[in-house]
Order: sequence, then structure tokens, then C-alpha cells
Amino acid sequence: RPASPCAIIIFGAAGDLTKRLLLPALYNLARSNLLPQEFAIVGVAHTPMSQDDFRSKLSRDIHEFATVAVDDYLWQQFEQRLYYLPGEFQDANTYQQLQDLLIRVDQECGTQGNYLFYLATASNFFCDIITQLGSARLVREDNGHWRRVIIEKPFGHDLDSARTLNKNISSVLKESQIYRIDHYLGKETVQNILVFRFGNGLFEPIWNREHIDHVQITVAETVGVEGRGNFYEGTGAVRDMVQNHLFQLLAMTAMEPPVSFDADAVRDEKSKLLKAIQPLTPEDVLKHTVRGQYGEGTINQKPVPAYRSEPRVASDSTTETYAALKLTIDNWRWADVPFYLRTGKRLPKRTTEVAVQFKRVPSLLFRQTSVDQLTPNFLVLRIQPDEGINFQFGAKIPGPTVRMGSVNMDFCYADYFGSTPSTGYETLLYDCMIGDATLFQRADNVELGWSVVTPILDVWSALPTREFPNYAAGSWGPKDADELLWRDGRQWRSSD
Ligand code: BG6
Repeated sequence: RPASPCAIIIFGAAGDLTKRLLLPALYNLARSNLLPQEFAIVGVAHTPMSQDDFRSKLSRDIHEFATVAVDDYLWQQFEQRLYYLPGEFQDANTYQQLQDLLIRVDQECGTQGNYLFYLATASNFFCDIITQLGSARLVREDNGHWRRVIIEKPFGHDLDSARTLNKNISSVLKESQIYRIDHYLGKETVQNILVFRFGNGLFEPIWNREHIDHVQITVAETVGVEGRGNFYEGTGAVRDMVQNHLFQLLAMTAMEPPVSFDADAVRDEKSKLLKAIQPLTPEDVLKHTVRGQYGEGTINQKPVPAYRSEPRVASDSTTETYAALKLTIDNWRWADVPFYLRTGKRLPKRTTEVAVQFKRVPSLLFRQTSVDQLTPNFLVLRIQPDEGINFQFGAKIPGPTVRMGSVNMDFCYADYFGSTPSTGYETLLYDCMIGDATLFQRADNVELGWSVVTPILDVWSALPTREFPNYAAGSWGPKDADELLWRDGRQWRSSD
């Protein structure tokens, strides 16, 4: 069912996010007939450009970044609905011109005064843009139309700044108008964690401390900082990945069943889970967290430079490109079950997965093996790139003696459903257009995430490391990350 008539106003429309992801996602929605006939995109950016230049630019971009072959007829229709306004985000004049332009767009495209503002800009503009939208009365919901704002990450830099940002934007917008995006929630396989857990009778009864030994969440990337040295220097792996993407995976994996699939019911459960994470004392930070930074090395047989040699990175930088942590969740379901999280850049393989290790059998019937030698049951939810679910269990190796080996039962999304090339932003954009905030972060979700990681960041910045770089590009991260699990008699699941 197509969304209701609306205009999407993209701040930062000349930037990377727009061309690589937003434009292809909107095109895919048009292809699937999920965009309304009465639709328009209004780009706003500093770059001086005419409307025709903007249309030509996006035409080049879609041919480069579309996830499917571009249909000429469909693109022509789409292109006619593109508008552009050059202007400074902090200048009130820009918003007056935007008001006039939107009146014209409403008349020409029938968008009926419904506006979705997408803030695809650097985060230091978020507050100014929203304040200006408020002063220009562009976010007032009256006369039966809706006004919504999607805010990209990073949402704040730590707990205080996230609170301030929430406070400032909520003086202009109602919470129901604010859509804080985390693109991990747009991934099919991330959404599938909830379906897997709550749509099957089989797993939920064993999804607890009685049966689960521990959980490992891995987000490994082969890429480095991809020319974003400037941004990454002030960010690091915890802010860039853990506080948002890894915590989404954690919440989906560990939260209680919500009473319904309504936005607030789901987000209430996420908040409860994040609140139950045992706060880390400075001693815990020293013991249960690991940070790393890559040195030079080899990825896919190609030499790559050290982080400190990347453009716009300090030669003595102490920014972490790798983080691992052990968290405990203080509730009835998860008491004493460790959750190990790790993420890093320039690791040997791109892989995102949630691996759940079940407890070993209490005693052994098969004398040839000791309990310790038995491979435990692992259930692996593979988020990307090879989306699927894998279950590892013991089976008898054929032969006259009883010997056990570990075998795999594998479900692969692409084999089963075929592959549907998407950017991951389609669902999120569509959900915002139809007013469903389930897959967006509420103010308290974001603040709770920050309250878990802020003590880590505080201890780390008080004790800057002198040992960086401490892992070679193309390795699985610093040795200390292995220690973190060995100390508990465990090890990271090998993803090779
Ligand atoms: C972004 C981070 O939010 O997520 C990047 O800023 C990271 O540093 C990216 O590379 C990873 O996303 P994905 O979808 O490729 O796993």
C-alpha cells in the first residue's frame, strides 16, 4: 500500500548518504509502488546548484548507485519530482525560501502539506536545523497534515550531549514527530531476530540462563575509515558502532517479548533491557573492555596502511578502531550469562553475527570423548553478508565406534527467498512515511545506550593508551580481546 502524499526534504542532499543510500532506497520504493503518486523530493544543501543541475546530478548518481537496473520511464517520472534549494542550514533566509518552495511543491505535486524532513547532515547542524524549522513553523502539525523529522546518527557524543540534543529538539517537536534512525534496524536479518524469537514456539523456552552459556555479538569490517578520518578521530569504534548498532543487536537478542508490535511496546522492552545492563565501574572497564587500533597489514592480499597513516588522522592518535566488551544483564532471564560484544575495522572478514552458545550436556554417555572435548551447540544468526541462521550440533561420526563430531544445519536467506537487492533504508523511509516508529530509537533508548558506554569512554580517555597500534590490519584484533574470553574459559567463535 503506497504511503500517503508527502514531500521528503533532504538536508545534506548533495552529500554521500543521499547518493549512495537515500536516493536508491527511494527509487526502490517507487519501483515497488510504495511511494504515493503525489510525491516530491526537495534537496537542501550548501552547494550552489540549479534545479536542473540537481536533477542531472541525481540522474548520474542513480545510474551509479541503484541496487537494480534503472528503468528509464520510471526514472523520468521520478526526476520530475526533484526540487533543489541551495542555502546555509543556519540562515533563517533558507527556511523562508523553503516555505515558499514547499507551497509550490504542494501545488505542483499534490503533496498536501505532509513533510518528512531528513537530516542527512553532519550532526552539529541537527539542533540548528530543527530550531529553524520550528521558527519557520514548518514542523507544526495543524490542518490535518503531518510533519516528521528523521535524524541520522551520531545522536550525541556522550550522555550529556545526547540529553541536551533531546531536550533542545523536544522543545520544537513532539516525540511522535522524531525518528532517530539506526540503519541496522532496516536490515531484514536484524528484524528477523524478533520474528525468529517470537514467531516460533521452539526457541523462546530455551532462550535464558537455564540453557544458554553465553552470547557473542560480532560486527567485523574489512574497511578502514574510508576517507572519514576527520569524523572518526573524534568518534572511535564505541561511539560509531557499539552505542548504536551493537546495542540494537543486543536488545533484539535479549529483550523480553513485547506485549504487541507497536512502536512503544517494542521500545519499552528495549529500554528495560538496556537499563538492566550492569553499570561498569572503572575496575570493570579495565577488566572487561578492550580497545585496539590497527597498524599496517594485509586485507584480501593487499597491503593497507595503519590507522595513524590514514588521511586526516593524527600520527599519534589514540582513537580506537576496535572495541570488545563483556556485559552482564541483571535480570531473571540473563543473570550470570555474559554477553561478549566486539567490533573492529580492518579485520580479516566482513561479518555481522549473533552467536548463542548453549550449555554443555551435564554428563557424558559416550566414553570416547570428554565433556570438554564436545563442541557446544551454537546457534548463529548471521546478519551479513551471508544472511542466514546456522545451528551447530553434535552427531555420530559413521563407523563401528561411537565418535561424535560437530555438524551444521544451515538456512540461507538468499537460497530460500532469493535475493532482494536493497539498501536497508527502504523499510525505514517507508515506515516513517506511514508513521510507524517501531524501528526507530526513542529518546530514552538513545540515552540508555549512552549511559552504558559513557563510563567506558571516560576511563579510556583518562588513561590514554601508549600501546597503539596493537593489532595488524587483517588480524582478528588485539590479543587482549582473546584474553577477555579465555579468562572465562571461553573463546571467540571462529567465523572463518
Ligand atoms: C556506520 C558507521 O554507521 O555503519 C561506519 O559510521 C560503518 O563506520 C557502518 O562502516 C557499517 O554499516 P554496515 O551496514 O556496512 O554494517
